[in-house]
Amino acid sequence: MGKAFGLLLLTPGVVHAQGQAQIDADTRAAATEAAMTDAERTVLTNGIMPLPFPPVPIPPDALYGAGFVPGIDRLGVPPLWETDAGLGIAWVGGLRGDGATALPSAIAQGATWDSDLVRRAGAMIGGEARALGFNILLAGGINLMRDPRNGRTFEYFSEDPLLSGILGGAAVDGIQSMHVLSTVKHFALNGQETGRRIVDVSIGEPAARESDLLAFEIAIERGRPGSVMCAYNRVNGVPACGSEWLLNQVLKRDWQYPGFVMSDWGAVTGLDMVMAGLDQQSGAQLDPEVFLGQPLADRAATDPLWASRLSDMNRRILRSIFAIGLDQFRPERRPIDLDANAAIAEQVARQGIVLLRNEGDLLPLSRQAARIAVIGGHADRGVLAGGGSSHVQSPEGPGIALVTGRRQDSPQYGMAWHRSAPVTAIRAMVPDASVRYRDGRYISEAVALARDSDIVIIIATQWMTEGRDVPDLSLPDGQDELIMAVAEANPRTIVVLQTGGPVLMPWHDSVGAILAAWYPGARGGEAIASLLFGEHSPSGRLPVTFPAGPDQLPRPHLDGAGEVEPNFIGIGQPGQIVAVNYDIEGADVGYRWYAQQGLRPLFPFGFGLSYTRFSQMLVGLSGGARPTARVRVRNVGYRPGAEVVQLYLTANPLGPQRRLAGFERVELAPGEERLVDVALDPRLLGQWRDGGWYWPDGRYAVAAGTSALETGAPMSLSVAEGMPCTGATGHAACFHAASQ
Ligand code: BGC
Repeated sequence: MGKAFGLLLLTPGVVHAQGQAQIDADTRAAATEAAMTDAERTVLTNGIMPLPFPPVPIPPDALYGAGFVPGIDRLGVPPLWETDAGLGIAWVGGLRGDGATALPSAIAQGATWDSDLVRRAGAMIGGEARALGFNILLAGGINLMRDPRNGRTFEYFSEDPLLSGILGGAAVDGIQSMHVLSTVKHFALNGQETGRRIVDVSIGEPAARESDLLAFEIAIERGRPGSVMCAYNRVNGVPACGSEWLLNQVLKRDWQYPGFVMSDWGAVTGLDMVMAGLDQQSGAQLDPEVFLGQPLADRAATDPLWASRLSDMNRRILRSIFAIGLDQFRPERRPIDLDANAAIAEQVARQGIVLLRNEGDLLPLSRQAARIAVIGGHADRGVLAGGGSSHVQSPEGPGIALVTGRRQDSPQYGMAWHRSAPVTAIRAMVPDASVRYRDGRYISEAVALARDSDIVIIIATQWMTEGRDVPDLSLPDGQDELIMAVAEANPRTIVVLQTGGPVLMPWHDSVGAILAAWYPGARGGEAIASLLFGEHSPSGRLPVTFPAGPDQLPRPHLDGAGEVEPNFIGIGQPGQIVAVNYDIEGADVGYRWYAQQGLRPLFPFGFGLSYTRFSQMLVGLSGGARPTARVRVRNVGYRPGAEVVQLYLTANPLGPQRRLAGFERVELAPGEERLVDVALDPRLLGQWRDGGWYWPDGRYAVAAGTSALETGAPMSLSVAEGMPCTGATGHAACFHAASQ
């Protein structure tokens, strides 16, 4: 027991008087840090990537995974066993010989708009982490989708700061509830993979504060992650991991973040990053030098400023370890209940699938359908997963894997499918029907089957991976032509999309129904089948805008495409920089850009159909420092279902706006009506100005909507100088319900 607390060794009287639980993490971190020897002070500040590439001596107590930092046994500080994370415990090409539960992609989690469910999913993977021997999850992908071609779109929740902040915070909170530390990443503005280490994004402070940084701010407030992972890219000319502005000023000073900043793997270019706020060098063998080892110790030995910074680094790391309980709740190797956990993955998939089109109520399918054709997507073998460090597989490994030859011969970086075949799940729904599968490689064969079927289900895929952006938003390998030809042969064609994010749909008007299933995880096949046959009504809503074409994007040409080899490393030629101008859209990311430009997308943010129908009405707005909207919502259809109540700011004194300010998912039985109170985040109503949040005097119009495009009649709040707010804390403005 003595080992568990550094403080116990130092001041046992305090421990006995107060009890262990009373001693807060800061006090313990300070006491433990004070007890460190000089040699111990650089133990926690750097770690290795314990994998065979690039080779590094791997200590016996390390596990194959993303990172390992030795502990300090004498002081009761556990080693840090780190794994990727956001979608489950990463498989690392099967090197460990284990497997885990694959959650649907983060964008699918985003499409649930359900923070309770995302929290439960986080707790599930937190539990699996401990059972597999890890205590740090490199999870919490908070970056906003500024470009749908970003190869990691599937690892991020949405294009909206409130939605990403709330859901990202919930995921982190769930993970950490299992005493496993979670990061949020990649801080910040890491919006594309093409040249990911030489991208230099430019953006003004207000725009950044109101968009990507706000997403992190909310996620950090809600999730209290033990660590923030800084990003590969540069921001306004400075590498994110060495950005005084991002790390010291925004994160540590303004947000009072008490945890530590870890680098992304291979992102550290020099010791100077320490003074900008970097606390820990991850996977240090990927960097030119172990800067945060001996060079740091040497500097601290001679310079008091560096010595005090080194103490601060240690205190931050220790504080997170103690606050989350890593010292007391060590990983416990034990079998995972994969079935129970897959049920959570299935629920996320079910709730995240978005029904985009349903002509003549083609869906749900009748169980009487006699002849069903399923075409494409390797639907006889599984559901597609995204590639890269986040890739998860069950202990049996992929249902099918296609090596792309782009990195190691490992499904981690090639296309791989989870063992959850839609064809099998569909057959289970309709055991008496004829369910025939064709791979879709030959259009003539698919068309012949479509002609001879009552219903056609095409599973269309777009594979995305970390390290590479997609060159365009088409469905590759001739799938657009396939869909067109099949739909012409049989209009009762349903397209189920398994994609990383938005795709174009030149065939959109020709098909009967479209479901966006994203990468649906361990039980994706079952989730798809259950929605197709109406066991559940679809309730997902788009967390991102689907553009009608590349010309609608702020940057129709992806910066760096054609100039940097599309590979995982993303370093380009020596001295090469890819300049990306985020000031084009500024804070108006995603649907806000479409609104500002008057563009009509293919499908708007927030959109999603159901098998039932809802009515919604904004019935009241209450003011104060934290205003609330009251919405009456009713299921006016004949099936149970869930509606996502979305509240948008539609105007403020600065002019017309379109900003999600609050949301709530509600489940309703047929005929059921509820009054739903939705808190509005004041930061989404105002603006960042002169170093703080600011709300100009005047009217703020808020409307309830079913998407960013479809909003009802607004009601107003007003802000007026000199009208005080009782009980206001934190935020400067006081909102008053305006006479309507
Ligand atoms: C990715 C991170 C990941 C890390 C460790 C990096 O290449 O950008 O998201 O956590 O590798 O695998």
